[in-house]
Amino acid sequence: MPPEGVGPLREGITQRPILQHKRNSVGILPHMKTANIHNLTLVRSALEELTGRAGGLPSLGVLYGPAGYGKSTALLAVANATRAYYIQMRSVWNAKALMQKILIEMGLPTKVVRTRKSKTGEGETAFGRDLTVAEMLDQVGTQLAASRRPLIIDEFDYCVGGAGMVELVRDIHEISQAPIILSGEEHLPLKLQRWERFHGRVLSWIAAAPVSLADARELAPIYCNVACADDFLELLVDKSGGSVRRVCVNLSAAEQVAADSGWRKIDAKAWGDRPIYSGKPAARNEREQAIVDGTKKS
Ligand SMILES: Nc1ncnc2c1ncn2[C@@H]1O[C@H](COP(=O)(O)OP(=O)(O)O)[C@@H](O)[C@H]1O
Ligand SMILES: [Mg+2]
Repeated sequence: MPPEGVGPLREGITQRPILQHKRNSVGILPHMKTANIHNLTLVRSALEELTGRAGGLPSLGVLYGPAGYGKSTALLAVANATRAYYIQMRSVWNAKALMQKILIEMGLPTKVVRTRKSKTGEGETAFGRDLTVAEMLDQVGTQLAASRRPLIIDEFDYCVGGAGMVELVRDIHEISQAPIILSGEEHLPLKLQRWERFHGRVLSWIAAAPVSLADARELAPIYCNVACADDFLELLVDKSGGSVRRVCVNLSAAEQVAADSGWRKIDAKAWGDRPIYSGKPAARNEREQAIVDGTKKS
C-alpha cells in the first residue's frame, strides 16, 4: 500500500519524466540506431538469468567495463525491450535525488499533495511536501514488486563512495526481490567488495566485452554508408583498444573519406596509412610515441 496521502498528482502540478523523452519504442535515442552487438546479448541473458532464478536466490547483477565499451547503449536497448526502469546516476545525486528520479521514471509522484479551502473561500489550494526517502523506498519497492519490471541503474560508480546509497539499493532489492542491474566502470566489482552484505547478493557479474570483428560488422552499416571489407574492420578493431565508441568514430570518419575519394568500398589497401583514431594523443616523434605506448624507459 502506498503511504497515506500519496496519490496521483493534481492537475496543474506536473512532473516531467527526465529520461523518457530520450527513448522511443524502437531504438534508444530517436537519432541513434542500435547495433545488435555482443554486449546486448550479454545484458539480455544476464537479465534472463536474474528473472528466472530459483526462488530465494538474490537478483542483483553488475555490468562493468571501461568507458566506451557500449554498456549504456546495451542497457538502454535491453531496458526498452523489457520495459525495465532505467536510471543514469549523476555525480551530485544523494539518496533523495536517486529515489525521486526512480519514482519519476516509474511515473509516480514524489510529493504528498493535499488541498485545503482557499482563504477567499472560493476553490481549493494545493499544498504539499516531498516524500521522505523512507516513503519513497516503500513506493519504489512496491512498484517494482507489483510491476515485475527490472530496475537498471547506470553509472553506479557514483554510489560506491558512501555506504548510504549502496545500502539503499540493497533495501530496494530486499523489499522488491526484483531483478536489478547496476553498471559502472571496470573497477566497480572491486569497489563493491567494501560492502560485503551487498557484494554477497550479486548473482551475476557481467564483464562488458571488448568490440569484436562480428560487432564491427553490425556497427558498420549504421555509421558508414559505404561497404567495409573485413580487413578494414579488423584494422579498426585492432586500434580500438576494445572500445565500441572508437570503432564508431572511425567508421564515421571513413564514410567521409570514402565520399571525398569516390570509393564504393573501403578496404585496408585503399585506406593505406591514413590515420585511425585510437583514443591516444598524437605523438610528434619517437620519444613521444614511446610515452603514448607506455614503453618509455625511465
Ligand atoms: N550497440 C550499439 N549500436 C550503435 N552504437 C553503439 C552501440 N554501442 C555503443 N555505441 C556507440 O558507442 C558510444 C559509446 O557507448 P556507451 O554505451 O556510451 O559506452 P559506455 O556506457 O560503456 O561508456 C555510443 O555513444 C555510441 O555512439
Ligand atoms: Mg555509460
